[in-house]
Amino acid sequence: MAITVKPRHPALGAEIRGVDMHKPLDAETAKQVHDAWMKHLVVVFPDQQISDAEHVAFTRNFGEPEIFHQTSLHLRSDRAKEIFLVSNVDEQGHLLKPSEPGQKQLSSAQQWHTDSSYRPTPSMGSLLHGIEISRTGGITQFINMYLVYDELPDSLRRAVEGRKARHDFSMLSRLVGSPPPTVEEKAAMPPVWHRLVRRHPVTGAKSLYVSSIYNDAVEGLEDGPARRLIEELSASAAQPKYMYRHEWEPHDVLMWDNRCTVHAVTSHDPNERRVMHRTTIVGREPVVAG
Ligand SMILES: [Fe+2]
Repeated sequence: MAITVKPRHPALGAEIRGVDMHKPLDAETAKQVHDAWMKHLVVVFPDQQISDAEHVAFTRNFGEPEIFHQTSLHLRSDRAKEIFLVSNVDEQGHLLKPSEPGQKQLSSAQQWHTDSSYRPTPSMGSLLHGIEISRTGGITQFINMYLVYDELPDSLRRAVEGRKARHDFSMLSRLVGSPPPTVEEKAAMPPVWHRLVRRHPVTGAKSLYVSSIYNDAVEGLEDGPARRLIEELSASAAQPKYMYRHEWEPHDVLMWDNRCTVHAVTSHDPNERRVMHRTTIVGREPVVAG
């Protein structure tokens, strides 16, 4: 299988054609896809009308699918435990109101973050399959955090060098007012500290590592200044020159690197159905200082 790779933005994002996710990927094609992914950070595979089983099988070419630890809000699929539901429709097909607990928690994805940064070994990447897409918004925006780090103003660079930030899954509920994790869920995912500047295990390049929906503390700073620093870093990152905005077509599969990008989704009309299934790839190594 020969693939073609076409960049969609100068900073990051490319489209890959010539892959059929209904079929197993041969080793040579998997390597080509991985190379393109490392180069472009976010890749889109258009026209992949796949089942959840095919989605999970494709994910396994790159690593182990993560099982979401929280079950209380029904964001993990009952049908396939590797699937995380980024949907406003439940598995019985009912449209969910924005006030439903799971929907509230999902709304946090409108702020810049990287998936599963609250784990001791954070996620490598995620694959999102657009099954029913939004036309009133729901654009997924990505930022190249290598570039952000390279061009960080001196004052912010001094503030992040050699420093760690805390990532806490419970921060979500404080942020958006969704139900807090249960005692068991909290015990399963205690807060962790990661470097604000990390080195990518494959490319060797340095990037800024912030996840504003999970970061609740910064080493050596009081709460107010810590929060302001995270917000300033996110604002400094969220510039069009660093950003690819993905406007969905049905059955796009998007694959991004959680180690060197952040993402945020735009809001959409809650009366419009949006059904997306995500797999998350378990990281292979802890965060290494940059
Ligand atoms: Fe996300």
